[in-house]
Amino acid sequence: MSAAAQRDGLVRVCTLDDLPEVGAVLAVVDGRRIAIARDSAGDVHAIDDTCSHANVSLSEGEVEDGTIECWLHGSAFDLTTGQPTSLPATTPIAVHTVQIEGDVVYVALSDDAS
Ligand code: FES
Repeated sequence: MSAAAQRDGLVRVCTLDDLPEVGAVLAVVDGRRIAIARDSAGDVHAIDDTCSHANVSLSEGEVEDGTIECWLHGSAFDLTTGQPTSLPATTPIAVHTVQIEGDVVYVALSDDAS
């Protein structure tokens, strides 16, 4: 990501056309892996890509009912809060700010991003 694409902590990650109608893609923001997910309501979310149960990419999982589901053991995470809604994961993951301008998706990492 070029410096020109960054402003006010927002980083351009993709366009709406890059996202599945319902589903997620992987983006890397400041070296951090982030799942950019569009839910069935059309809302776009940014959430850490790595499952808190093990080192698995959540963007490869299903988006359903406002959650993203880990494909390995099936834990789902709320796309708005990052809280796991089903076992075996018990630790929340960070969610990040999304801003959409036109068809461009920007993300600002949250303070709990490490
Ligand atoms: S690795 Fe995601 S639920 Fe186990």
